[in-house]
Amino acid sequence: NFNLVTNDQHHLEIGGLDTVELVQKYQTPLVVYDVSKIKQQIAGFKTVFEQNDVDYEISYASKAFSCLGIYQLMQKENLHLDVVSGGELFTAQQAGFDLSKVSFHGNNKSLAEIETAVEAGVGIIVLDNFDEIDLLSNYLADTHQQANVLMRITPGISAHTHNYIQTGQEDSKFGFDLNSGQAEKALKIILANPDLIMKGFHSHIGSQIFEVNGFEMAAEKLVDLAHDWYRKYDYQPEVINVGGGFGIAYTNEDKPLAPEVFVDAIIKKIKEKTTEYGLQMPAIWIEPGRSIVGPAGYNLYTVGSRKEVPGKDAYVSVDGGMGDNIRPALYQAEYEAVVANKMNQETVETVRVAGKYCESGDILIQQAALPKTQPGDVVAMLNTGAYGYSMASNYNRNLKPAVVFVENGQDKLAIKRQTYQDLIQLENQLY
Ligand code: LLP
Repeated sequence: NFNLVTNDQHHLEIGGLDTVELVQKYQTPLVVYDVSKIKQQIAGFKTVFEQNDVDYEISYASKAFSCLGIYQLMQKENLHLDVVSGGELFTAQQAGFDLSKVSFHGNNKSLAEIETAVEAGVGIIVLDNFDEIDLLSNYLADTHQQANVLMRITPGISAHTHNYIQTGQEDSKFGFDLNSGQAEKALKIILANPDLIMKGFHSHIGSQIFEVNGFEMAAEKLVDLAHDWYRKYDYQPEVINVGGGFGIAYTNEDKPLAPEVFVDAIIKKIKEKTTEYGLQMPAIWIEPGRSIVGPAGYNLYTVGSRKEVPGKDAYVSVDGGMGDNIRPALYQAEYEAVVANKMNQETVETVRVAGKYCESGDILIQQAALPKTQPGDVVAMLNTGAYGYSMASNYNRNLKPAVVFVENGQDKLAIKRQTYQDLIQLENQLY
């Protein structure tokens, strides 16, 4: 179902390259990005905006996967960027990303982060709470500067997704609550301060969402709000940023709508309501992370030991696990895998693909239908491009994997594999 390409040797191919050869060259665990898939996703989003003839920006939510190379790719694709920390901002800056196209998010930006963002010329600061309005306002007043801001609004919508990745519900830690009047109070403060250039609204209702309806509701609420605030305060947003969260298929059972379908519905809703109220049509911004990089990523592992369990599926252990992909352990996330060097072989058994970390919960796939595996086989986990490497850790002092970008038969090493020396780089011998 995932349009896998197999070559004459019955090996999985990504971006025109044999994965078994990639593994020989870079070892495992290895993260591989199919660059043309990333470009296709982006093109899909662009097309739907252009067909609807609206002003727009696509802001890549870089928490899904950030490194110098991906920022440079996004710059080449003319995208904007969403960063959520001084570290992401620094990386974007080092990559040469045009910082005027960066939006800075977060529910607890430090003064140092705000200072760095303003001084670096970050395009938009997304205001999240009252303390932050104070922090930014004071800094701007002290330094005689201005900043473009969006206001993050919590629209009071519970998206149907895992609790940990819902963000638009009323008691979310993010944003100004709409229903209790926080948002309106914030607007008044922002409009009263000439240093804050109020560009518009932002909302993000959650991640890995499969239904259009939550996005339509959020869009509708934001335009209702624009209408209300236009009458009361003569304010109209230039930008409505509806966030990201468009769901992708991880397993054959997942049947997500194409990301463009979500965006089409959002655009139509905003147009319809804006026309109904006689408001100016705002630019529509989206902020997808997962849907841009998720389907383009593969995690390659080498099979090691096997343990039979009477009456249960065997464990087949691989040389990575929760350190390079915590999503199964953290969210019970499901994935599909194939044996990359045995693409012609029938699936003959269901096994549990286990990681090598010292945790019983380190199972990458609970029920993987695979051909019979042997030590040395290469397992490819599919659709791992979002929130895999970006949430990687050095738990158990395993090394973070290398990351390779492939396209048109060419491979580029985006991130080197860590070395043992890297592990103690920051440490002092104390005794
Ligand atoms: N914009 C904002 C303000 C966000 O908080 C997020 C994700 C996005 C955009 C991008 O959402 P996406 O298009 O990637 O769904 N670690 C979790 C996902 C956390 C998402 C956090 N915010 C996971 O692995 O599922």
